[in-house]
Amino acid sequence: MKRTNYAGRTSESQIGEEVVLKGWVAKRRNLGGLIFIDLRDREGIVQLVFDEKQDPEAFEVANECRSEYIIEARGLVRQRSEINPDIPTGKIEVAVQEAHILAKSQTPPFEVKDDVDASEDLRLQYRYIDLRRPEMMKNMKLRSKVASIIHNYYDNHDFMDVETPDLTRSTPEGARDFLVPSRLYPGHFYALPQSPQLFKQLLMAAGVDRYYQMARCFRDEDLRGDRQPEFTQVDTEMSFATAQDIQNMTEGLIKRVMKEALGVDVKTPFPRMEWQEAMDKYGSDKPDTRFGMLINDLSDIVKDSSFKVFSGTVADGNYVRAICVPNGADHYSRKDISKKEEYIKRYGAKGLAWVKVTADGYSGPIAKFINDLAEPINERLGAHEGDLILFVADSFHVVADSLGYLREKIAQEMDMIKPNQWNYLWVVNWPMFEYDEGFGKWIAAHHPFTMLNEEDLHYLEDGEDPHKAHAQSYDIILNGNEIGGGSIRIHDPKVQEKVFKALGYTKEEARARFSFLIKGLENGMPPEGGLAFGFDRWVMLLAGADNIRDVIPFPKNSKGVEPMTAAPGTVDQEQLDELHVDVQKENKD
Ligand code: AMO
Ligand code: AMP
Repeated sequence: MKRTNYAGRTSESQIGEEVVLKGWVAKRRNLGGLIFIDLRDREGIVQLVFDEKQDPEAFEVANECRSEYIIEARGLVRQRSEINPDIPTGKIEVAVQEAHILAKSQTPPFEVKDDVDASEDLRLQYRYIDLRRPEMMKNMKLRSKVASIIHNYYDNHDFMDVETPDLTRSTPEGARDFLVPSRLYPGHFYALPQSPQLFKQLLMAAGVDRYYQMARCFRDEDLRGDRQPEFTQVDTEMSFATAQDIQNMTEGLIKRVMKEALGVDVKTPFPRMEWQEAMDKYGSDKPDTRFGMLINDLSDIVKDSSFKVFSGTVADGNYVRAICVPNGADHYSRKDISKKEEYIKRYGAKGLAWVKVTADGYSGPIAKFINDLAEPINERLGAHEGDLILFVADSFHVVADSLGYLREKIAQEMDMIKPNQWNYLWVVNWPMFEYDEGFGKWIAAHHPFTMLNEEDLHYLEDGEDPHKAHAQSYDIILNGNEIGGGSIRIHDPKVQEKVFKALGYTKEEARARFSFLIKGLENGMPPEGGLAFGFDRWVMLLAGADNIRDVIPFPKNSKGVEPMTAAPGTVDQEQLDELHVDVQKENKD
């Protein structure tokens, strides 16, 4: 039998027509002489009716059906007596005259429904069943739709879709590389690309002028809800473009995706926020502007306070900053606040000082020390009776992280984030370098190929402090998430050399690691720049999913394992020998 249409697209306009449908048995109800089957395919569900008296053979097939059997059914579309308002095909049903079972199924390990009652690992182990759930299918469709808009958009704007290699050379860009041993060259390794960064720059040297690619990237880093070891970037690069040109081009894409995929109009240009302001006011380089409760600096007010934690911190050249939680005084008990203190200790905070604002001054353990400053503090924070003020005194980064994360946590707990907001914004004017506590050295805040602000180039000269320089880089933020980032690139080999030097590479080390890039710069590199979106992360937010795994068909779990194929797995000794790889036995003690 030839299928006439998707089950989920059967419509009222087909009433009286014969249809042939194929799909999975989502639900079966046997009412004696009548059997109802909800038939599911990727487009949705339609109700099939099997009547024993009218079509005994078809009825027998229905009787044999179990959940997730695959069947084909031919019948007449008719009006339903009891309308189901919950599904698009709820006004109709198909009276089946002929049916066949095409494939049987074991009892599924979990029911195929949106409020699924199964652990994520079980879902991932049987991902093909999990993906049958309407929500997952919806996410995959959205992903496909957004990808198609992206291809169309860049194609319309003269971008060339160019592929770059996955087996390449390790060029440290920030994260750890995944390595692939070479069979032909013992002790040599390919690295999987963390991004196509250097290739796309060299494509500009090739004269491609405008490049884009849906590129797979690999980073061996700790996993989080919005990170995967293997992810997709919408990677772009433009020659002879300014940061503004690249941002405009990106905004055009976002506007189209929002309209065509979600039916939402977003206003462009998006706001630009300086990195410094983002860190000062939001405690984050990816500020969430969907709610207020901004961070305020109180260092000048409390510098002479009798509360030594505050005055001492300011005397050390550090900062006392606070957020004011509207109506937080009744919402949070002493015990709740202690929990918050524990929470921010992971960001290095030494404590969390607090006061509640009452009709006659502050209350709380430190109230007596700072009551005399209540007026200017309240004024700066816009604090009123009933509010809770939370203070952190520490270095710039500890204060920013602690109050930044606290602000987000409290906003969620107190339901301050109104739904259906799409707050896109650019964070611009980043520092070129940042100190990495983990590595104990200066690293590039974006990447080492990022161009400094022209007026800051002098910081690279001998005797100056390069770490004061700011860069022509920009991140695109959506609702407090970094969905993309980019920069204008260095196209002058002399500047590139100085940046490598500021990062602590000797000339020889830089040549050894990046010789192909340096040669590229020496052989005619146009001024250029670009940007890459985290495609999975963006689709996750567009889908309203709270985990990146829900928009990736076959993701790794939070431990880096892909439970369906059980990757990573061991391999035969023979394979290892061919690759000249010796595996160290794990020390079991
Ligand atoms: P960057 O490293 O900022 O820039 O990456 C660009 C975007 O990719 C997303 N992203 C991730 N998504 C999921 N899982 C991960 N592990 C992960 N890591 C990053 C983020 C991020 O904003 N070559 C430069 C771009 C450029 O300069 O043009 C780059 O890779 O959303
Ligand atoms: P202490 O003087 O150490 O007993 O601290 C008194 C109060 O100040 C406690 O509520 C601490 O949590 C808080 N506190 C201590 N250090 C800091 C700090 N660096 N920033 C903010 N609050 C602090």
